[in-house]
Amino acid sequence: MLIRSATFKKSAASIRDCPKPSLPEFAFIGRSNVGKSSLINYLCNNNKLAKTSATPGKTQLINHFVINENWYLVDLPGYGFAKTGKEKKARFETMIYDYCKKRETLQCLFVLIDSRLPLQKIDMEFMLWCAENETPFAIIYTKTDKNSKSELERNIKAIEKDLLRNWEELPNAFVTSASAGKGKEDLLEFIDYQIKSQRQSPAEE
Ligand code: GTP
Ligand code: MG
Repeated sequence: MLIRSATFKKSAASIRDCPKPSLPEFAFIGRSNVGKSSLINYLCNNNKLAKTSATPGKTQLINHFVINENWYLVDLPGYGFAKTGKEKKARFETMIYDYCKKRETLQCLFVLIDSRLPLQKIDMEFMLWCAENETPFAIIYTKTDKNSKSELERNIKAIEKDLLRNWEELPNAFVTSASAGKGKEDLLEFIDYQIKSQRQSPAEE
């Protein structure tokens, strides 16, 4: 799939304020600063589309972008940002969990994981929550430009080993770098496949 158009639709503070659930939707989630907004900009080839920052806690709302007038790409606030006040953190969490659990058009949640670090407890907990709540997810490894190829392979292997403690099979995973421009084709191909298979399913029933 090629992205021909990507436009900002709406920022929402809760699932109630999100755009009408009329298009298939794919959302980016993960720890603050993991690179969600940057990856959206890279995919859409527009560095001004989603707001990014070197300081964690930049994205604070549910942001919908319409892609090819056909599906939504959604930028979510990060989880686990320790410096946010307690009240704000709780508000973010309600926003995120509500969205992930209840958004009826959400086809796949992409959990972004920093490829430089061991699997963080909060990421594991979040993926376990997804499994419990039957929220389909795939993994996206970010910032892979910061590692040598061998380090990257070693880190991903270690993360997979951790995942296999809780899952029998590994989830789909994509290796990306927004800075070096890596991983776009695989990710868009996967999304395209998901959109097409979803469309076919009512006719097959
Ligand atoms: P929040 O909105 O705060 O949750 O953060 P986010 O996950 O949206 O992260 P964002 O895209 O704002 O990026 C955070 C920082 O990581 C910025 O300084 C980016 O430039 C940097 N960054 C993002 N992607 C990459 C990447 O692929 N490689 C490198 N080297 N840096 C990256
Ligand atoms: Mg962001």
